[in-house]
Amino acid sequence: MKIAVVGQGYVGLPVAIAAAEAGHDVVGIDVDPEKVARLNSGKSPIGDLTDSSIAGVGSKYEASSTFEGIDTANVVVICVPTPLDSAHNPDLTFLVSACESIANRMRAGVLVILESTVSPGSTRGIVKSALDKSGVEYLLAYSPERIDPANKQWNVKNTPKLVAGISDVATVRALEFYRSFVADVTTGSSVEVIETAKLLENSFRLINISFINEIAEFCARMGIDVREVIDAAATKPYGFMPFYPGAGVGGHCIPVDPSYLVAKAREIGAPTRFIDLANEVNLSMPSYFVGVAAGILGGLTGKKILVVGVAYKPDVSDVRETPALQLIRLLREAGAVVAWHDDLVGMWNNEHSVILTSGYDLAVLVNPHTGTDLSLLGSTPVLNTRGGY
Ligand SMILES: NC(=O)c1ccc[n+]([C@@H]2O[C@H](COP(=O)([O-])OP(=O)(O)OC[C@H]3O[C@@H](n4cnc5c(N)ncnc54)[C@H](O)[C@@H]3O)[C@@H](O)[C@H]2O)c1
Repeated sequence: MKIAVVGQGYVGLPVAIAAAEAGHDVVGIDVDPEKVARLNSGKSPIGDLTDSSIAGVGSKYEASSTFEGIDTANVVVICVPTPLDSAHNPDLTFLVSACESIANRMRAGVLVILESTVSPGSTRGIVKSALDKSGVEYLLAYSPERIDPANKQWNVKNTPKLVAGISDVATVRALEFYRSFVADVTTGSSVEVIETAKLLENSFRLINISFINEIAEFCARMGIDVREVIDAAATKPYGFMPFYPGAGVGGHCIPVDPSYLVAKAREIGAPTRFIDLANEVNLSMPSYFVGVAAGILGGLTGKKILVVGVAYKPDVSDVRETPALQLIRLLREAGAVVAWHDDLVGMWNNEHSVILTSGYDLAVLVNPHTGTDLSLLGSTPVLNTRGGY
């Protein structure tokens, strides 16, 4: 089949390459011409996908900064960003723009699948309204992406996929498409069930991580190691799932997606107390650790602090929504002289990563990557936001 994947980021690119590996002819469409040029020269912009994976699919994949590939596509997969605006409300600008560009060119009979995370009701609402302007008959389905960057075990092909169409035919066609490269595909009875399932998954993580952050604060005051407590609780073989503390959640999903659920809940008058509280706890974590640092050092004015690992999680270079941003800002506002080390990020906010050395008053570990040699810190005191040492 001819496949067009709109948005060639952390989600769209792995989907495009997996579809090409399954033998489909894939065009990866992106509005970022630099990214397109890079992809067409065989260079992967994301850590999880190697240059050799792109080379491996040869002419089965090409990137494009125009929407011409939509003209002949049998399947169009939408993987554009769905962030929050400055008021913390869903920002659907990218999605609406992508749908309009697709509607201008799509042909009759095409199957359009939305993979971007959205509020329940958006596929049948916003997306369908935009695509209806095409004036052609088409099929529409929703299938949320579950990719977990830097996860060595679970990838596009072996992570179970959820799918639902707005008609039975759309469900069947979407099922067929994904079964050509995903091992386990499950359908739901409506797109709203699957849209809500995706938000349940990520809200579940936000709430539990926020909860363990409160438990970590409790353990710190008790003088016990939260990691040891979690490991002890995790010996229970049922009814418990370990989550680990940190300076707050980051990335494009966990801090963002629950607010898409909240937006819909407000619209229909349903409560979201758990998500609201989890957001509050999560956003307070940087400020909590600034207080801990001040306590360790007896004040922060003029103190030299090294923040280690500024990406939103270990082993990725992605700094979207990273709690390190707020942590560094608050430390500087309190008078500390802050540098940061992160080999994968390298350059961020016009600042360079510094090398790991001793000579700091305090090192604050946010998300150190695997293999970061903390022994280089020498006798520098360490505040580990992730608990344990
Ligand atoms: N990153 C993750 O781990 C992850 C996991 C599951 C789901 N998601 C969801 O998947 C969606 C995409 O996220 P991502 O992390 O891949 O984003 P990303 O920013 O890495 O990539 C999105 C790409 O879309 C391009 N784009 C923006 N507007 C466009 C348009 N109108 N037409 C064509 N291309 C356009 C951007 O240039 C960018 O390259 C979001 O809804 C996100 O919530 C992300």
